[in-house]
Amino acid sequence: MNDRAFLFADAVYEAIPVYSGTSFLPDRHYARLSRGLGEVSIDFDVAGLSVVCERLLAQNDLVGEEFVVFYVQVTRGVAPRTHAFPTTSVEPTVYAFVGPLARATPEQWDLGTAAITLPDQRWGRADIKCTALLPNVLAQQAAVEAGVADAAFIRDGMVTEGTHNNVFSVIDGVVTTALADRRILHGVTRQFVLELASDLGLPTAERDVAESEFRAADEIFFTGTTTEVRPTVVLDGEPVGSGSPGPITRLLSDAYRAAADRIVAD
Ligand SMILES: Cc1ncc(COP(=O)(O)O)c(C=O)c1O
Repeated sequence: MNDRAFLFADAVYEAIPVYSGTSFLPDRHYARLSRGLGEVSIDFDVAGLSVVCERLLAQNDLVGEEFVVFYVQVTRGVAPRTHAFPTTSVEPTVYAFVGPLARATPEQWDLGTAAITLPDQRWGRADIKCTALLPNVLAQQAAVEAGVADAAFIRDGMVTEGTHNNVFSVIDGVVTTALADRRILHGVTRQFVLELASDLGLPTAERDVAESEFRAADEIFFTGTTTEVRPTVVLDGEPVGSGSPGPITRLLSDAYRAAADRIVAD
């Protein structure tokens, strides 16, 4: 119980999607984990983790499962409680699991989902994927209690991201999302969707999005490892655009799923 993850949330983590036994964009996820470890000065080499993932999939009989998450957390390790880093050499603790994920059926996707907005009460380094997620937990609980799928955080009048995903809006035909600075997690799915949009010839923008622009957007969708590309059709009780998943969201979701299907086929 003296693990510093328990005492201080002194840990970083990663969640990697696995489609039918094949990890999707694993290099990007491991690179982010490696960067996060460096940012918080935990000395750990991520090189062996893909083997851990494969072993867990086999041991849990999940190689054939359509959609699985590989979760891995690396903590600073076990040491008597004192805020500063332990002065003796301490081994990082590694905790990992795999588990099946629910994927929206085409019928569910077509219905779209609802979201709310909430103040972003997190610290100033949301770019570090650390396990100190209490503000995210409380916000997602508020979403559940409101009967909606997602919550978009607002900081200083600008939309940042979701509780466990990034958020996009389509504004005047431009696929728009927040800048990848310290206010958001640099989502692997976010970056991949931006690349898909460019491949499809769609204009993209990474910039501050004012809450008022967000509310007036033609389309809104969330992206993430567990979220994939999820259309939001109601925001704070008001319809988004036409009130149905928009054409650009659909194009990007289809392209995302096709890319995931391709890694399985390859
Ligand atoms: C706060 C936050 N933003 C965005 C994301 C999406 O990141 P990714 O697409 O890499 O899963 C996550 C994923 O867990 C997250 O926790």
